[in-house]
Amino acid sequence: MPLNEFAFQRCLSADCGATYGADEVLIACKQCGELLDVDYEWDRAQPPSRLQDLEKYWAERHHPLNFSGVWRFRDLLPYVSDDEIVTVGEGQTLLQQANAVASYVGLDPGNLYLQYEGMNPSGSFKDNGMSAAFTHAHTIGAQRAACASTGNTSASLAMYCSVTRAMRGIIFIGSGKISYGKLSQALDYGALTVQIAGDFDDAMVRVREVCKELGIYLVNSVNPFRLEGQKTIMFRVLEALRWEIPDWIVVPGGNLGNSSSFGKAFMELKQLGLIDRVPRLAVINAAGADTLSQLVERRDLRWNDSQTDEEKIAAYYQELDDLHKKADTIASAIEINRPVNLKKCLRALAVCDGVVRQVSDQEILDAKAQVGAGGIGCEPASGASVAGAKLLRQQGVIGASDRVVCILTGHVLKDPTATVAYHSTDQKLFNDVLGSRGVKTASFANRAIAVDNDLGEIIQAIQLYG
Ligand code: F0G
Repeated sequence: MPLNEFAFQRCLSADCGATYGADEVLIACKQCGELLDVDYEWDRAQPPSRLQDLEKYWAERHHPLNFSGVWRFRDLLPYVSDDEIVTVGEGQTLLQQANAVASYVGLDPGNLYLQYEGMNPSGSFKDNGMSAAFTHAHTIGAQRAACASTGNTSASLAMYCSVTRAMRGIIFIGSGKISYGKLSQALDYGALTVQIAGDFDDAMVRVREVCKELGIYLVNSVNPFRLEGQKTIMFRVLEALRWEIPDWIVVPGGNLGNSSSFGKAFMELKQLGLIDRVPRLAVINAAGADTLSQLVERRDLRWNDSQTDEEKIAAYYQELDDLHKKADTIASAIEINRPVNLKKCLRALAVCDGVVRQVSDQEILDAKAQVGAGGIGCEPASGASVAGAKLLRQQGVIGASDRVVCILTGHVLKDPTATVAYHSTDQKLFNDVLGSRGVKTASFANRAIAVDNDLGEIIQAIQLYG
């Protein structure tokens, strides 16, 4: 059996609770239309009895599954037999203590950690989930896989398709809504790229219709297997902290797959008795794409044991439609107004005593510049986590001595336009790219110095500024 018998899919709604085999290709419950979880009969699955037991895999890192930062945790996402797993060595990421950024955020030295998911093979956290969904697609014999994307999911899907040659990748993107770094990956890796006249939310609706109509495997995070892979980001954070639980996990929120998977990871670890407490979760929206923040912070929407107030959600979306309001932020990765994992994220907030905030594009870019100045760098959406931590610190929600992990979801080279515009001396470029989004200053810009092609002048400039 390629898929383990003790793994199954379960409807998120406690009222419905319908279950399906792991071999079914579903993106919603057939009874009630709600999202699905992958679940396990844990007594049959034989999970580890201590998290430290997972370290046994380190001794065999020459084995591709143990080398993978996703699959060395396969005992905690045990839906598939080892010989079916598709891996390209994803999840070799880094948890870095970042003291300069800690000081910017207002935390005591040593208390801020950055989880660099941009170090994945396609440059974003998406590879964690894509490896898991792609593996499922492979086991059920899919020939084609598709996604709608703000750019990183599509880069990841295109990469898995081209490395493995196992499937044709089809990606749907909104026109003019994708950064060049990400678009170049999809094109270079040979994915069929469909640019839709609309934004991500429009593309998401269409890709679901097309997948249904043409029987194409959908790898967006409505696919519950995607989120199984993304749980491992949290496992690696705990592993890097020697299995200690931080006080806070701070993550940008777009389609809300990450936050949902983090909540599921901690829910299961607690249920299995592998941890004794869960960290708090902060999900950070961009102010121009703030559905979660509007619904949770302003309208008190809650998980409520899966009895979520659907009318509140419907009324909010109706308002967006009436106002013709589209998502708009420099953090194009999270430029999403209709997050497909909304309900699962509400559950994660309930499990992790979570909070939601929104930050402006100015705050995002300033935080991003701080991350870049302190080390490896990130794309704008990732800056939202650091900006959000700073805001929560200012509000006194996060304490100076709390241990905080900010997730940096994508690599700095994903969106060079935003970075160059921020640091540029070219006022027109700044205005075109950032000014139009309400960004007024670049307080942490590191500007290039223009000099004549003259040795004396060059030396003088270096002595002056170097
Ligand atoms: N950060 C980056 C760099 C992303 O690419 C995304 C999502 C997010 C954060 C938000 O994560 O959806 O789990 O809340 N990008 C998707 C894409 C939507 O199509 O690449 P989320």
